[in-house]
Amino acid sequence: MAGVVIEAIRKSFGATQVLKGVSLDIADREFMTLVGPSGCGKSTLLRIIAGLEQQDEGDISIGGTSAGHKRAADRDLAMVFQSYALYPHLSARDNIALPLTMRRLNAWQRLPLLGRLLPGTSTARATIAGEVTRVAEILQISHLLERKPAQLSGGQRQRVALGRAMVRHPAAFLMDEPLSNLDAKLREHMRTEIAQLHQQLAATFIYVTHDQAEAMTMSDRIAVMMDGEILQVAGPDVIYADPVDLRVAEFIGSPKINVVPAEIDGDGILRVGAARFDIATALPPGSQLRLAFRPEAAELDASTPATLSGRVVIRENLGSDLLVHVRLDAAADPVIVRLPARQLGVRENDRIGLHVPVDRILLFASDGRRLHARPQPAQARELAYG
Ligand SMILES: Nc1ncnc2c1ncn2[C@@H]1O[C@H](COP(=O)(O)OP(=O)(O)O)[C@@H](O)[C@H]1O
Ligand SMILES: [Mg+2]
Repeated sequence: MAGVVIEAIRKSFGATQVLKGVSLDIADREFMTLVGPSGCGKSTLLRIIAGLEQQDEGDISIGGTSAGHKRAADRDLAMVFQSYALYPHLSARDNIALPLTMRRLNAWQRLPLLGRLLPGTSTARATIAGEVTRVAEILQISHLLERKPAQLSGGQRQRVALGRAMVRHPAAFLMDEPLSNLDAKLREHMRTEIAQLHQQLAATFIYVTHDQAEAMTMSDRIAVMMDGEILQVAGPDVIYADPVDLRVAEFIGSPKINVVPAEIDGDGILRVGAARFDIATALPPGSQLRLAFRPEAAELDASTPATLSGRVVIRENLGSDLLVHVRLDAAADPVIVRLPARQLGVRENDRIGLHVPVDRILLFASDGRRLHARPQPAQARELAYG
């Protein structure tokens, strides 16, 4: 097992720069997820780590040694794809065993009949069979080993593909959207299984997905990628609560974070329409910024000067809570707030007031950079770029 260090990787396809100097330090045994919208360069980066694609600049090191110019086969990494890439004519058992038969038996020994007569074949075959049995038990597919891929469900095929990666005991597992072909329910189930597998194997996992929920539930740390760059690397909690960039804030979380236009008025007070927020800022009057808050950060309360008022346009009862879409007087697009189910009395077309506690508010400059502002007494107003 080993950590993986990605150093200043650049890659262009023709005139298009797909990776713009990506660096990332993945610890031994870490579950690192690369998450970002489709086309941002995730698969290209993973393929470069695997050695399936050559970078233009930069290096990859695995377990402390430079591997950036090694062949894929010499990098000791196992890749699991969305498409499973199983051999249709082989049983699950033979698909799983394949990397070991290729590595431990020579071409003569692999012959079905003659091979058995050659020295060393039976010992090697027994070792391989033992390894396949062990892996199948971990993945709970022991009863499926004689089936061909066509006789397996999507989730079972993905487990076989995982098994084929596991028998190699690689330095790290690379997974490119391995759950995308599964239906929603199975995907959620497999998420948990992959997280458990990671704990059980105590191995380094580099996992690629465009699905922020997958990233949030499985990872030790998440690297959020956009347009060929990593914007932030941190644990799921930090990525959610403390995003450094508006693009990160908007990509992570469902329903999406609410973003409304705000400005610093002539008295230096942060305002959203008529609502006045007690947030320290040293920005000059007239500055335009973006005020953001998560759906669960707002409370029903019209009693403070910081009340955002608006009209309920949609009310969705989820049982456990309510999702209420509110068209604020001060913003064009409706915001979505998550209210406790006991507030069932909220109806469509009601006028309501929303209060967002100052410590739940995130501020961003108009270019998307996070502004670190704190609730502070009016005398000590101060705001720093983070
Ligand atoms: N072999 C290739 N030739 C040309 N363009 C490519 C190639 N592979 C990927 N791209 C382009 O690089 C960009 C990033 O692709 P990819 O890494 O697959 O993104 P992601 O996995 O995040 O969806 C896309 O615009 C894609 O069209
Ligand atoms: Mg991809």
